[in-house]
Amino acid sequence: MTSTTAREQYEAFKARGLRLNMQRGQPSDADFDLSNGLLTALGEHDYLTDSGSDIRNYPGGVHGLPEARALFADYLDVKAENVIVWNNASLELQAFVLTTALLHGLRGSTGPWVTQKPQMIVTTPGYDRHFLLLETLGFELLTVDMQPDGPDLDAVERLAAGSDRVKGILFVPTYSNPGGETISAEKAARLAGLSAAAPDFTIFADDAYRAHHLSDDRDAPVNFIQLARDAGHPDRALVFASTSKVTFAGAGLGFMASSEDHIQYLSTYLNAMSIGPNKAEQWRHVRFLRAYPGGLDGLMRDHARLIAPKFQAVYDVLSEDLGTDGRYATWTAPRGGYFISLDTALPVADRVVKLAQEAGVSLTPAGATYPAGRDPHNRNIRLAPTRPEVEDVRTAMRVVAACIRLASEEYAAQP
Ligand SMILES: Cc1ncc(COP(=O)(O)O)c(C=O)c1O
Repeated sequence: MTSTTAREQYEAFKARGLRLNMQRGQPSDADFDLSNGLLTALGEHDYLTDSGSDIRNYPGGVHGLPEARALFADYLDVKAENVIVWNNASLELQAFVLTTALLHGLRGSTGPWVTQKPQMIVTTPGYDRHFLLLETLGFELLTVDMQPDGPDLDAVERLAAGSDRVKGILFVPTYSNPGGETISAEKAARLAGLSAAAPDFTIFADDAYRAHHLSDDRDAPVNFIQLARDAGHPDRALVFASTSKVTFAGAGLGFMASSEDHIQYLSTYLNAMSIGPNKAEQWRHVRFLRAYPGGLDGLMRDHARLIAPKFQAVYDVLSEDLGTDGRYATWTAPRGGYFISLDTALPVADRVVKLAQEAGVSLTPAGATYPAGRDPHNRNIRLAPTRPEVEDVRTAMRVVAACIRLASEEYAAQP
């Protein structure tokens, strides 16, 4: 028997015919509005860049406009020579590098990875699209826990030392998806210097949320390019990022950084694939971000003002409705990023997501934060509060809390 209150409360929410979406990490329209200036950043005659490149024509090469490279080198805390600025998606760049590694190897490789039954370490809970990409390309995934200060490095070191099939680790170093954890300086240095059986063990750092602080109380992003150089493995690190959560999602710029040698190596393959990236998009991003009050940092502060109250709404409702003693659930409280990771105390995540769906609140599918969509504990749920209005986040979280209580009571009442 479940308590009438949990069931009744849930049924009352269900009767309201809600339609709320907490599923994907998307900016809100108010976030997008901050960047509407992009749409008019270039006038009719603004087709020549500072360095004299004509954005209407091919020449320019595959590294990206010098002005864009300088801007995003600054963002990643590296030199322009370490950066390639490409088209609209950092995931595409990750796919490009992984595919190149499979077909040709990376710098330091003894041959193509595809013939070596490659394995890749990923952190869990983690980002479903990393799993999808790696699984689709044929990698075998090895999971390690994401801890409050980054990946479980003891486990990473063991795996990397144990087999030369372990080709690297793909994870989110700053404000991770979904838990919002940031790797500590100490763990980052350990990762950059670890002894791996594979000579080409590579750190794939998807730094999608590097500048996405929620307040002035910030986590410090690490610099894997410098750490790898300092550790004597200059080609070991590849860092990826984009403006998808800075300007327009899927309609911004993706970029990556590595050692100069690695950038040159990879650009050979890019050069075979393409004459070059979309320079018009790069130039208008440069013009828009230069003109934004406070530059890119000013824009991120404006995003934070919109997003932080939504994170707060999640914490407020969860603590009010579920308490903070962990009886029903625990959740992360990151200082930045786009997500909160919630763990139910009992193995009821799939039931919670189903109940919420039936009450009109869509959540990220249960299991999505694990490879193959299977959460071995059935406890993790990713909450994505950025897209709805604050009041809708509050309502959606009341429903989620009611679902957690109902699902937990149903579970406990099982014979
Ligand atoms: C960790 C992470 N990486 C990459 C992306 C997608 O980035 P892009 O639009 O640059 O491909 C997301 C989007 O949610 C993300 O959370």
